[in-house]
Amino acid sequence: ARPWRVGLIGFGCVGQGLYDILQKRPETGFDISRIVVKNQTKERTLPANRFEFDAAALLADDTLDVLVEVIDDAEEAFRLVAAALRRGRRVVTANKAMLARHLPELVQLQREGQGTLLYEAAVCGSIPVIRTLDAYFGAEPLRRLTGILNGSSNYVLTRMGEDSSDYAPALAEAQAKGFAETDPSLDMGAFDPRSKAVLLAAHAYGAFLQPEQVLNLGIEGISAVDIAFAATLGQKIKVVAGLQRLPDGRVTALVTPQLVGPDSPLYSVDNEFNGVVIEADFAGEQFLRGRGAGGHPTGSAVLADLAALRQGFAYQYPKARAGAPAYASDLEVEIY
Ligand code: HSE
Repeated sequence: ARPWRVGLIGFGCVGQGLYDILQKRPETGFDISRIVVKNQTKERTLPANRFEFDAAALLADDTLDVLVEVIDDAEEAFRLVAAALRRGRRVVTANKAMLARHLPELVQLQREGQGTLLYEAAVCGSIPVIRTLDAYFGAEPLRRLTGILNGSSNYVLTRMGEDSSDYAPALAEAQAKGFAETDPSLDMGAFDPRSKAVLLAAHAYGAFLQPEQVLNLGIEGISAVDIAFAATLGQKIKVVAGLQRLPDGRVTALVTPQLVGPDSPLYSVDNEFNGVVIEADFAGEQFLRGRGAGGHPTGSAVLADLAALRQGFAYQYPKARAGAPAYASDLEVEIY
């Protein structure tokens, strides 16, 4: 089969990661044919003639088999992805903030416009958690999901615990390694994992939550002393997302720092790694662990989506279609 022509919108950490992967592995059968970026003056790792500046031209180019949207700006990303879906295009995005805000509209647009949108890279980098929930657990009732969904804050907590590093230098390291968001308060304040929790709720439970329905508490107030104290108890402090369906059908989700002990699979999820524990009625407990941030791991998830699109894969949002409540009415948080 001929290689697929990919239109790439955005050339930051994830865009460059994908580009590098496809350069190293031409046999995957995907060519980055056109690249659109916003900043016309920025120094880049490729010759200037590889870049263009008008995303609309890519949307209109029917010789492209698929568009990959990996820009930072969530609202601009939504406009581009929505326009592409209206045209019936195949689209891959990694933009979790955009998806968490607009998922119901994007699902609707796919139904109306015949386009297809995949976004494995938006949640937990290289871990195939969306596909696992959507395709594998599509028919099985899930009890609970718990996960470490943010690599940067996990990296900072690990460095503070293992090297007694201070917060600021540990954060600077996470930024230098390409794990952190452009605005690091999204990572440290747990807004980024909140977006990911919204996406997990959609694929695990068919519940389309608004981000504000998910309580998020970050790590800005946590000091090395707190981490050392947790260690004396044999515990680590981790930012854990917890999602579950209540007996009445409503779904609750929250993302907060918690004490995690060695009895939990999440205890060993350190540095930029992410982990998700899935508890299903019949399968029992499963644990996925992998790199949750960085150009190559996240680029690898985009590549997985490209390959899935070539096989004709599309998300089913199966629980929603099976008649479960499509919207959680409100959030119930128990504070102990
Ligand atoms: N800033 C994110 C993180 C990148 O640290 O997990 C991956 O979504």
